[in-house]
Amino acid sequence: MILNLAVTPGEVATSLIILVMVFVFVRALRSKGRKQLSPPGPWSFPIIGNLFQLGDHPYLTLMEMRKKYGDVFLLKLGMVPVLVVNGMEMVKQVLLKDGEHFAGRPDMYTFSFLAEGKSLSFSVNYGESWKLHKKIASKALRTLSNAEAKSSTCSCLLEEHVTEEVSELVTVFVELSSKNGGFDPRNAITCAVANVVCALCFGKRYDHSDEEFLKIVKTNDDLLKASSAANPADFIPCLRYLPLQIINSPRKFYQALNGFIALHVQDHLATYDKDHIRDITDALINVCHNKYATTKTDTLNDSEIISTVNDLFGAGFETVSTCLYWSFLYLIHYPEIQAKIQEEIDGNIGLKPPRFEDRKIFPYTEAFINEVFRHASFLPFTIPHCTTAGHHSEWLFHSQENMHVY
Ligand code: HEM
Repeated sequence: MILNLAVTPGEVATSLIILVMVFVFVRALRSKGRKQLSPPGPWSFPIIGNLFQLGDHPYLTLMEMRKKYGDVFLLKLGMVPVLVVNGMEMVKQVLLKDGEHFAGRPDMYTFSFLAEGKSLSFSVNYGESWKLHKKIASKALRTLSNAEAKSSTCSCLLEEHVTEEVSELVTVFVELSSKNGGFDPRNAITCAVANVVCALCFGKRYDHSDEEFLKIVKTNDDLLKASSAANPADFIPCLRYLPLQIINSPRKFYQALNGFIALHVQDHLATYDKDHIRDITDALINVCHNKYATTKTDTLNDSEIISTVNDLFGAGFETVSTCLYWSFLYLIHYPEIQAKIQEEIDGNIGLKPPRFEDRKIFPYTEAFINEVFRHASFLPFTIPHCTTAGHHSEWLFHSQENMHVY
């Protein structure tokens, strides 16, 4: 069969006109459909979407947009449609009542460094095996936190680790203030919290000046900074192929952290004793060695153990230390609140170290902690979610109400 490819200029012009008409018609149909189905939202530019409208404080901009568009609105971050969900009722609907439908994670380039498909927090593979993985990790965390303390005065192992670190932290604070007068408590707080997580995960605490420990705390900090700065490749997917520092920098920090955790896991694998579970890593190895597991998905392999410990490690210490850092800031700014908290604690337990069970006799102190969460709003969004069923692929951000700093 011979194809005649010779076309006249008239035919080209006619084809072009038809093509343009079809395109315009399809666009018109799509935008008509979208008007009926899509949530409201600001007009967006091609390719960059609404990226440049978000400003330096996206959560404040989104709160302003909420006033105009309501609790649920749609915008575009680069080329990606993002649904923003605001307000207690709507957030409850999405995360709890319809949680299963919105439990996925979007396939973001930054997540691909962190996840490698095996992380709990950033995995795009939501499903039965992810649920099982989460159940295993939650159980290990709960069991080890509630395990019996080594000393008799603490109710559980977590309380014991926290009490030890607090007393070390007080010593460090006294040293810093006698040397320098005023001081920035950030590093000392981060080391103390990281030590509680290390003790839970690896059964080991570090001296605040230990070089290996300080390197890891810094790497985690760099990783968080690098992955929380907007990565253009997350929003304009074709940019992931460019060899730019801003696009690829989180990868090296994640690999360094994984290397540190992998060493501990290898060490635990070599010294593991099923009758003597020392920490979360042992508890996870125990699941791997579980002879009752009937399928491969009932268990975790070594790299899944490493990434699970990495998840707990990463999620557990920056969050808590940032919360403490904010708490100190508020206490310095409001000395009268500081005095009332001191009065409540001294009045009830004197010089004894506080315990978890004292929480019920410290209502003012507890209200202060809750108020720090609400007012500082240091995590104004969840990790982005996406839908798990149907053909909707929008990401979801949850912007919380009344939670910004004045
Ligand atoms: C002040 C303390 C903390 C705050 C404010 C906080 C906040 C959050 C937020 C907002 C998320 C995202 C939830 C979502 O996207 O649905 C999250 C997830 C997570 N957090 Fe925390 N967190 C804190 C402490 C911790 C601690 C101490 C641990 C463990 C030792 C931890 C482990 C995790 C894990 C594993 C996830 C991922 C869960 C998932 O993907 O389902 N967090 N956290």
